[in-house]
Amino acid sequence: MCAAPRAVGRGRPHLARTPTLAGCAGGKASTRPDGGLAPPTSAATGGSVVRCWDVTGTTERWTPVRQRGPSPAPAPAPADPERAASVRSIAEELSGVRGPLLPILHEVVETHGFVHDDDVPVIAEVLNLSRADVLGVVSFYHDFRRTPPAAHRVALCRAEACQARGAEATYASAADRWAGSTEVEVGEVFCLGNCALGPSGTLDGTLHARLTPDRLDALTEEWAR
Ligand code: FES
Repeated sequence: MCAAPRAVGRGRPHLARTPTLAGCAGGKASTRPDGGLAPPTSAATGGSVVRCWDVTGTTERWTPVRQRGPSPAPAPAPADPERAASVRSIAEELSGVRGPLLPILHEVVETHGFVHDDDVPVIAEVLNLSRADVLGVVSFYHDFRRTPPAAHRVALCRAEACQARGAEATYASAADRWAGSTEVEVGEVFCLGNCALGPSGTLDGTLHARLTPDRLDALTEEWAR
């Protein structure tokens, strides 16, 4: 859509006339009425700008005219169409629940292990949110990891009751043992509801009690060091 250009150079007689716009109708916004091309110096740039033919008296001008409303950047093509289809299916299935974003993100992590950058525009489109809205939630919650998980995960409780039973030594031992490992990742949690039998932790999601460095080594001796 073209808007009337503003008159410039007040006092010049030919600019006081109502400008005639041609070339903006019929999808010919970038073509001059005489078939010529727009002068390079007046070429408009950006997806939301069109060029219109403006005849004001004896003066001919090319005027950039901004279209109404922003032009949203197109979503980049997902690197993995199969995953994108799966994420879309999850999002559409849960879009009807109350506050759908968190359940969708949980389900994506449950199904795919993490929230890929390519998942964000898909979810945003289904929920009619901006990508920034979705990304803000993903980055706010620690649970919504954005990188693929390691093969094994150790989560050790570092809350007070477990700390009082020696959890720090177990945590330090695990962190040291698997430092830099791509196969095992060590994380911390704060109370697993198993305080009386601490130090507590989970190994690949399974709860274990009375964890010591030696017991942890024994339970994970099959894992890559
Ligand atoms: S404090 Fe560790 S399980 Fe509760």
